[in-house]
Amino acid sequence: MTLNAMGDEWWRTATIYEVAPISFQDSNGDGKGDLRGVLSRIDYLKWLGIDAVWLTPIYQSPFRDLGYDIADYCAVDPVFGNLDDFDRLVAALHEAGIRLILDFVPNHTSSDHAWFFESMRSRDNPKADWYIWADAADNGGPPNNWLSRFGGSAWEWCEARGQYYYHSFLVEQPDLNWRNPQVRAALADVMRFWLDRGVDGLRVDASAVLIKDHLLRDNPPNPEAKGKPPPQRDTPVFTDDRPETMHCIEFIREVIDEYPGRLLCGEVQGKTDRIGHFYGNERPRLHLPLNFALLDSAWDALSLQATIDAYRNALPKGAWPVWVIGGHDKQRVASKIGQRQMRLLAMLLLTLKGTPFFYMGDEIGRERVPIPPDRVRDPFEKLVPGYGLCRDPERAPMRWDDSPKGGFTTGEPWLPLEHDGTPNVAQQRGDRDTILQLFRQLIALRRAHPCLQYGEQEAIPSRHDVLAFRRVAGDRKVLIVLNLSNEPRKWDCRGHGRILIATNPDRRTERLEKPTVLLRGGEGLIIEIDA
Ligand code: NOJ
Repeated sequence: MTLNAMGDEWWRTATIYEVAPISFQDSNGDGKGDLRGVLSRIDYLKWLGIDAVWLTPIYQSPFRDLGYDIADYCAVDPVFGNLDDFDRLVAALHEAGIRLILDFVPNHTSSDHAWFFESMRSRDNPKADWYIWADAADNGGPPNNWLSRFGGSAWEWCEARGQYYYHSFLVEQPDLNWRNPQVRAALADVMRFWLDRGVDGLRVDASAVLIKDHLLRDNPPNPEAKGKPPPQRDTPVFTDDRPETMHCIEFIREVIDEYPGRLLCGEVQGKTDRIGHFYGNERPRLHLPLNFALLDSAWDALSLQATIDAYRNALPKGAWPVWVIGGHDKQRVASKIGQRQMRLLAMLLLTLKGTPFFYMGDEIGRERVPIPPDRVRDPFEKLVPGYGLCRDPERAPMRWDDSPKGGFTTGEPWLPLEHDGTPNVAQQRGDRDTILQLFRQLIALRRAHPCLQYGEQEAIPSRHDVLAFRRVAGDRKVLIVLNLSNEPRKWDCRGHGRILIATNPDRRTERLEKPTVLLRGGEGLIIEIDA
């Protein structure tokens, strides 16, 4: 399919694949993935059938937080290549019918950014108000009790100004002051810089925390703090999800809308019932606020049924749903549910109404990679140890084959790979029975079938640990039945039909002679019901 044939709202029917380029493919043997590496894997992306790639930050950065600490928004970090490599990548992806989404990190820069050097110099330089500065409290300590997500006070003393600056995350990630119109204008120009280069969308990082309370009121204690990591001691009501933040998202959306056919998705925080307002009302906000509810749900049919229902109920009228099953911050779900159930999750993701997102390696059932303590890179784990917060197990290099370096690099991988014999692309591509092949079939079916693309979703009561729902478009009807138990289950399909895809590779895509189907333990089926 050509890009234009999908229309301006291409993201409604797209399958989106997150790539952390540092761990995808190294092209020059330095042990770190790069843009040329991504370029060399376009054939794989095309074969897999995804419609868009979202790249985590590729910008110039000291890389203290996977590149989410940006020192120059308009430069590619030399580790990844340069702007020519970037332009070549965009052109080649587009040629292959694949769109490109970039991460956009408007909340904070690196402390190595030229804006911050200037801002920290004095209280009256031209960029003095580009970051969030405040005087010390009466006792000389931080202005209030706000905590950094990465541990300790969110305020850091700056000798040159005799003031504190605020950082939601690392000390080396000062928060920009979104109340300042100059900051907004500068970030709008950053967006245009990349949109002009042909980028098809942006994923807004930390979109819920762009504005903090201007009175700097203390956050109240978290009543559920017991056993939680210290940064969660307080309830962040005065730092997160402030009403004014929504105006910032509306502003970002206006810039995106200067360019037809571009997508704005974003990382949002909070409970499912807050997700609705990230879509916007009179003024549009994000096209797709990322929804991680499937990852946070308990893994049984009743819990999943309730999770799906709660999310759907939280959507405002006309909002397009989105489902995510992995990401660079999220523990690998295959480690939680196991390989067989991972097939069910793939089927669920790719049959629910809404745009599916998955993360590199999910398609081969990748699990968490054990990281020895001396190889830990994630600052979250270093600063808040002992709570299992380390994100390196998800960020380990992609396993393309079963060689010791996984086909990822010829050098020393920046994070270790797991032992040989774990799932890898080469082995799974060559075997029709693998989860990789299942992902590919599901993506292809989704693309081809009107029910799965835009059909309505109808709930069916789950019973005996079988999750079921229907997708309906006109007179076509598709039933999805997922047996989450390990025992066989009978299911009444209320009609004859034909199995389109089964999670068990040896099940034939047969016609059902009876309206009742026998599901094996852990089996999922997509059945087209006769009209
Ligand atoms: C959200 C990103 O997804 C995460 O990886 C990062 O640590 C924080 N933003 C801070 O930049």
